[in-house]
Amino acid sequence: MSGADCPDLASLREHIGDCRRCPLGETRTQVVFGVGDPDARLMFIGEGPGKNEDLRGEPFVGAAGKFLDELLASIGFTRSQVYIANVVKCRPPGNRDPLPIEIETCTPFLARQIEIIDPKVISTLGKFATQYVLDTTVAITRLRGKLYRVGGRRVVPVLHPAAALYNGSNRQVLFDDFRRLRAVLDREDDSVPVGAGDPEGETLEMSDKAPENAPVQPQLF
Ligand code: URA
Repeated sequence: MSGADCPDLASLREHIGDCRRCPLGETRTQVVFGVGDPDARLMFIGEGPGKNEDLRGEPFVGAAGKFLDELLASIGFTRSQVYIANVVKCRPPGNRDPLPIEIETCTPFLARQIEIIDPKVISTLGKFATQYVLDTTVAITRLRGKLYRVGGRRVVPVLHPAAALYNGSNRQVLFDDFRRLRAVLDREDDSVPVGAGDPEGETLEMSDKAPENAPVQPQLF
């Protein structure tokens, strides 16, 4: 069975096994598969496990994860109500960026995870997740805070939560983008009139088409 044939998350996790398909398998402690509600309407995708995640086996449990929990709380969610995964499931040594070959090897599993969970809305956290999902090389600073449609899903890219740990002014940018994300989720519910979910009534920039170099059709789902 290939990963694409796995009918559920448990069989996909089993298929991935003690993965050695790319060099990250040699240096990580464990595969960090993903966590949360397998039927979540909202899915977050980060970059890859850091040191804490590598040791605990769960995404976003370090400092960036604490801030993600705060951001989630600000829009009325706990982490058990959403699903959280990463572009690569193994920690890049020293927290370096994942290499193209590592992303290419690992993302078919993420693509299948997305298909199985079938979220209505995906929020991509930072450059790597955003560029993968939107299939673009456009900078995250240009893509964040807008709404994209990829296949049947809505995608709201935001800065990576760690960006707020390095630069305090990014904190507010993230809180503001999470408010937009909440508005997107509320609009997706037919019982809520368009715009009613946006607490400040600001206009959400709606993009039917991603910016140049960002085709609306993604590569794998
Ligand atoms: N940063 C990420 O992108 N993912 C994690 O799981 C933790 C930190």
